[in-house]
Amino acid sequence: METRPETAIDGGEVNVADVRRTRVTILDFGSQYTHLIARRVRECGVYSEVMRFDHDVGEVAEDTGAIILSGGPSSTYGEDSPRPDSALFDLGIPVLGICYGMQAMAAALGGEVAEGTTREYGPQGFTPEGANPLFYEVPDGIKVWMSHGDEVVEPPPGFSVLGRSTDGMIASIGSDERKLYGLQFHPEVVHTEHGGQVIENFVHRIAGIISDWTPASFVEETVSAIRSEVGEGRVVCALSGGVDSSVMSVLIHRAIGDRLVPIFVDNGLLRKDEDRDVIERLRDGLGLTVDIVDARDRFLEALRGVADPEEKRKIIGNAFIEVFEEEARRIGGIRYLAQGTLYPDVIESVSVKGPSATIKSHHNVGGLPEIMNLKLIEPLRTLFKDEVRKVGGELGIDADILGRHPFPGPGLAVRILGEVTAERISVLQEADAIAIEEIRRAGLYDDIWQAFVVLLPVHSVGVMGDERTYENVVAVRAVDSRDGMTAHWFPMPHEVLERMSTRIINGVRGVNRVCYDVSSKPPSTIEWE
Ligand code: XMP
Repeated sequence: METRPETAIDGGEVNVADVRRTRVTILDFGSQYTHLIARRVRECGVYSEVMRFDHDVGEVAEDTGAIILSGGPSSTYGEDSPRPDSALFDLGIPVLGICYGMQAMAAALGGEVAEGTTREYGPQGFTPEGANPLFYEVPDGIKVWMSHGDEVVEPPPGFSVLGRSTDGMIASIGSDERKLYGLQFHPEVVHTEHGGQVIENFVHRIAGIISDWTPASFVEETVSAIRSEVGEGRVVCALSGGVDSSVMSVLIHRAIGDRLVPIFVDNGLLRKDEDRDVIERLRDGLGLTVDIVDARDRFLEALRGVADPEEKRKIIGNAFIEVFEEEARRIGGIRYLAQGTLYPDVIESVSVKGPSATIKSHHNVGGLPEIMNLKLIEPLRTLFKDEVRKVGGELGIDADILGRHPFPGPGLAVRILGEVTAERISVLQEADAIAIEEIRRAGLYDDIWQAFVVLLPVHSVGVMGDERTYENVVAVRAVDSRDGMTAHWFPMPHEVLERMSTRIINGVRGVNRVCYDVSSKPPSTIEWE
């Protein structure tokens, strides 16, 4: 979302008046990379939106400056394969087909697609042919990422071959006259060299769209949209102190001030001091009036005697909704509930693969809008996580709040294996605080995606002084990840592990052994429960 200067088309100056301030529409044919295309376009400072491949063409055309057809697992000559509406190619709007998207476009316009002689997966060489704005500043022989079996063997009438792979296969086609282009490789994945440049060339040079998608423009537009939607109404939201709910609260507060009531439910399952500290900083530093509900005893009572992980999650989820609802009723006069839904959830719901049951974090207070007859507002629903952070920075939220590691809704309950008791919470909080402090001291906090301590349900024998001990074991977990879907254990320096271990064993009463978790996801998960 950085701002770029208005870019030239084909080397000439762009007349801003001639260019629509607009978005790029990505039609999804089922690729696992569709969301990456959306991200890459936004990195050019241009708003992008994902729609299903068969979305109404009239609506697709509205405010759209360019269309990208994603890849997909199908074959154009498969019977049930998704096909683009051929009216798309007559709109006069530039279209870029990627992988299956290129094949589907070629097939629709009279080209020939065949099963490839070689199946190309993984890295390949690519060289542009002739000079085309799509490959402006793209050198010969770049490494590109391919993943396909079919190929275009004959471009449609009026199209030229714009580039080939090392083994001579047609890897890009285009018609400059109609502004229709195809790429056999995936410019959106990081393994493709100069992939970002190719997307930028399409968006800026070919479609002539200017960069106007910035954190500041998002804040300005969203604040005014919230004001006109909410009017004089009041809004509640759950504030956990995590990045999404913090940014959402500050954003809505900027629009309607104290008619936003962020509710912070202290369930007693939070990290030592950390979460409350964030809430107090949002309150004191940014002027939010936070409603803090102390529900610690209630959660502990509900969890008494429960060891099964799924049951714990259910109990915590239900207790949260109950507390939240009671509080919202107590406050009274509420018309809206704000939720921190992000764009990946929205994309999933429009995907060809169909909506899937995603795990929602606890601030997604399911069911409440119907029970209380509340209207839902989701001000972050167009943003990716990294954009949420940039918007947070624009709103003046401190970088360390925006850079916090993710924390699960059920909190420490899923890091205390076995029964959750007040004493075990306190042991874990102390050990976890030491581990995180050592990670921060070593300057590693921002290199690690998520780090925490887990309290195991076993005791081990130890010796302290002349005494035999029989006490708790804790495991330190730290992972490197992009989105939490896959993760690799973090290679923690030995001296950091040593300091953690010494301080935890000496300083936390009831712990006599510290282990380091060296499992990756998959097959392990990040949390232990
Ligand atoms: P797993 O353990 O599934 O975790 O590899 C992936 C990411 O999701 C977080 N997580 C949760 N977040 N409610 C949440 O809000 C949950 O029940 C939950 N379980 C796991 C986990 O911390 C990691 O970031």
